[in-house]
Order: sequence, then structure tokens, then C-alpha cells
Amino acid sequence: MAQIYARITGTGSALPERVVTNADLEKIVETSDEWIRTRTGIQRRHIAAEGQTTGDLATEAAQRALEAAGVKASELDLIVLGTTTPDIIFPSTACLVQHRLGANGCAAFDVNAACSGFVYALGIADKFIRSGQSRKVLVIGAETLTRMVDWSERETCVLFGDGAGAVVLEASGEPGIYATLLHADGGFKHLLYNPVGVSAGFTDEPNHGVRINMSGREVFKVAVKTLDSLVDETLQAAGMEASQIDWLIPHQANLRIIEATAKRLEMPMEQVIVTVHEHANTSSGSVPLALDYAVRSGKVQRGQNLLLEAFGGGFTWASALLRY
Ligand code: ACO
Repeated sequence: MAQIYARITGTGSALPERVVTNADLEKIVETSDEWIRTRTGIQRRHIAAEGQTTGDLATEAAQRALEAAGVKASELDLIVLGTTTPDIIFPSTACLVQHRLGANGCAAFDVNAACSGFVYALGIADKFIRSGQSRKVLVIGAETLTRMVDWSERETCVLFGDGAGAVVLEASGEPGIYATLLHADGGFKHLLYNPVGVSAGFTDEPNHGVRINMSGREVFKVAVKTLDSLVDETLQAAGMEASQIDWLIPHQANLRIIEATAKRLEMPMEQVIVTVHEHANTSSGSVPLALDYAVRSGKVQRGQNLLLEAFGGGFTWASALLRY
């Protein structure tokens, strides 16, 4: 039987209207535009309006991706949504989005893999298509991470933003996704986590104790090292050389982490999609936001090879190598 590939046929994204610049943050914590830019590359971030949810951003991004693909919501077989900031505990945000799109009846579920959520979701969707189970799948990465930011903590509040991105994947005889790799090591929980929740319980602290706990320097070191070996492993899984990659579309957390991965691949920064300066770290939203920007700006062209990668809380890390 001929190989079935999952091909991206449409992309979309959504960012909240409100923009908060580094200069705005200088007014609420002891920081500087210069510090934030040189350490992270971030210049501004978008923050969800009061009442605007992950599902709102996800729906908007999904509608754009469906329109770009020329696919009707009613044709979808599956929706997989990467998020660590669901609208409500249940139903899943994927179910809420499914109903709003009018895709009722298809399978729909969320994946929580922190910043790797979208690439995890893409890897899962690829398996559904390759197996013949699904033919048209909507994959979304969406977050309102600023809802869990402690705005008095300069170490973390400068790093994050809200946003969403989506792709439509369709079964095809042409490549398509060549390889996806998904990894996790829960032994690193202590370096990046949100300490409270339904089962562990909430606290009397501000925001019920919901906050991002992060050992930034340690996260940085492990991220660079892990992504180094991940890109090697991905090339090997796809049977490709680094020179065959046209674009690196990395998780947008920190420009220095992105530069380190590009160096490992011996890729000039001209072949790396960078959007972190525009929207900071949007966790699961970041890779599909960067991908949609790359497609709509005309940088990424049909037939080119793209390497997507992400690293986040868990730790989790994941990649996809595909022909666009
Ligand atoms: N403004 C000014 N000074 C600050 C700020 C701030 N916003 N935040 C920290 N500092 C200070 C620190 O207190 C420290 O001061 P000290 O030397 O007097 O103790 C100094 O700046 C340097 O701190 P470092 O931690 O050494 O700075 P570093 O160069 O490691 O950069 C950063 C910090 C940006 C957090 C970096 O480590 C990083 O990006 N780590 C990865 C974190 C990340 O991306 N997490 C997201 C989830 S995981 C992922 O997506 C990859």
C-alpha cells in the first residue's frame, strides 16, 4: 500500500490586540528594555483582554487555517489542541473550539506538554493520518500564559505572552511530515512548574498560588543541550542532512537559545524564523505563530523542508521535520 503522509494545507494564527512593550514593564518591575532585549530578544508581547480566553484565540487561529486550506469545519475528523492554559478544567478547550467551529462529532482533545504542546499535537495528528484513521485534522497550539504570570516577579513576567496558531493537516500521497519525535523527562519538574492545581490544591496566596516557578539559568542550559541532540536525532529519523533543511522554525522563548540551535545546524540566521521579539514566549502558541508568519510573509514556499522544534516544562521536547 502506498505511504500516506500528513501535509499542511493551511495555517492561521491569532494574537490579542493589547501590546505591552518592555518600556511598559519598566514601570511595574525593576527591569530595562536593554536587559530584556539582550538576554532574550523580546521587545513586546500581546496580552489577552479581560474575558478573552485560550479558546477564543484558538478559534480565531483555526478559522484562518481552515480558510487557508479551503476545508470546512464539518469535514474535520480530529482536533488536537496543545495548551497548558485551558479555558476551564473540562470540557477540554479542543471540545469548546470544536463546537464554535461547527465541527461537532469529530474526535477532539487537549495535549498538555507545556511549550512543546503544539509539536506534540502535530506528532499525534501525524500518527492518526499515517494510520488511515483520519484524513483532515486541525492541530492548534493556544495559550493565555499571562494568566499565570506573577507581575511582581521580574525573572518571569518579562518572558511570556498570549497567542495561538493552527494548521490543517490532510492525508496525501506526497510528503508531508517525514518524522516527528516526542520526548519528556519528568525528573526536571523542579526547574519549571506551576505549583498548584485541582488535585494538589490551591493556596491563599495571590492568584490562588497559580504562578510560574522557574530556574531560568538551569532551564536555559538544559534547553540548549537537549535541543542540540534533538536536531541530530530528527535528521537521522528523517534520513536527511542539515544542509537539506530550508528553514528552522523553533520554539520562540529566547533568541539566544534559537541562535545556539541554528549554530548546531550550521544554519545562517537568515534561514531561521524569529518572531520572539514580537510576541515573547507564547508556549504552545509559539511554533504555529512563527510558522503562520513564515507562510503568510512568503518566506516559506511549497516544497521546502522545515524543521520545527520545541522545549518546555516537564521537561518536554519535540520536533517535526516536514516538506511544506
Ligand atoms: N530585569 C533585570 N534584571 C533581571 C531580570 C529582569 N527582568 N530578571 C533577572 N534579572 C537579574 C537577575 O536577578 C540576576 O541578577 P544577579 O546577577 O544580581 O543575581 C541577573 O539579572 C542575571 O540573571 P541570570 O539568571 O544569570 O540571567 P540569564 O542570562 O540566565 O537570563 C533568562 C535569564 C532570560 C531567564 C534566561 O536564563 C532564560 O531565558 N532561560 C530560559 C527560560 C525560559 O525560556 N523559560 C521558558 C519556558 S522553557 C522554554 O520555553 C525554553
